[in-house]
Amino acid sequence: MHRVILALVFLITAPLAFAEPLVVYSGRSKVLVEPLVRRFEAETGIRVQVRYGKDAQLFQLLLAEGRRSPADVFWANSVGALVRAEEAGLFAPLPEGIRALPARFAPASGRWLPVTFRMRVLAVREGVVPEPPASVLDLPARRAYAGRIGWTPRYSSFVDFVTALRAVHGEEAARRWLLGMRALRPRAYTSNVPMLLDLAQGALDLALTNHYYVLRVKFGDLKSGPKAPGAPVKIHHFAPGDVGNLALVTGAGVLETARDRARAERFLAFLLSEEAQGFFAFEVNEYPLRPGTPTPAHLLPLEEALRRSFWLDPGAFARIEETLRLLREVGLY
Ligand SMILES: [Fe+2]
Repeated sequence: MHRVILALVFLITAPLAFAEPLVVYSGRSKVLVEPLVRRFEAETGIRVQVRYGKDAQLFQLLLAEGRRSPADVFWANSVGALVRAEEAGLFAPLPEGIRALPARFAPASGRWLPVTFRMRVLAVREGVVPEPPASVLDLPARRAYAGRIGWTPRYSSFVDFVTALRAVHGEEAARRWLLGMRALRPRAYTSNVPMLLDLAQGALDLALTNHYYVLRVKFGDLKSGPKAPGAPVKIHHFAPGDVGNLALVTGAGVLETARDRARAERFLAFLLSEEAQGFFAFEVNEYPLRPGTPTPAHLLPLEEALRRSFWLDPGAFARIEETLRLLREVGLY
């Protein structure tokens, strides 16, 4: 009798165990990522279960779950979350083959994989700003735009920008920049899209943002259709290498808790496939990291974007606390 029951239990659980899905914790939003996950499933026959949330929330969850976490992959929006996960020992090492493609942007540890990047930019209302500054450091001197600039002091990419400013030009220069900007009475927003709509409608002349928000508002993406098609708003890139052109990667890593590392690595490799990289460029307006990936006309060609962008060692983004302290000190956080 026992044997029969055991056999039955085996028959019932074995196929289930085999079909256990790959569990991905994704800080990337569902609308942007879901179609790609479905394509991966269709091509590989591997089922994927995604838990969506904010990077920071998912990172805390991973810490709380510890070794019992069901997660196989952590896919994040921000380099800070990836570095913190790496420093907390959550990521397993990745094989050389997967790391080779985006090697020049990857962390020295080799424990997570950059997938795409975004650029910090100055969004400009056409016609009213004839000569935008060549460096973001010169923005506070533009007194003519007092009260006409938008920014998002509590938004993660802005915080990352301040971290880069501190790392490159020092604490004092970062403080001076923040105070100089404050003296221009910029309008503070909690999110980027409303700020860009104000820019499109003429309530602002300039806005510090990420490149894809300008494109989302003008051309649309999976998250929303164009909210201001044809708006007289354009992207201004500062001079090549200026810290105002900070590049911020999104990326993913295989977790130490992964039940089947090879399967999780296959998911990461897929994110760097021609198909997925093209998807990010055309559907999400992000810069692909795979050399030779075509980009839509409203994005810079990849090599040009790389030439202009400013890259900071990923490790620097872990020291967010010191940046938050500075932002609190000047009354912005
Ligand atoms: Fe964003």
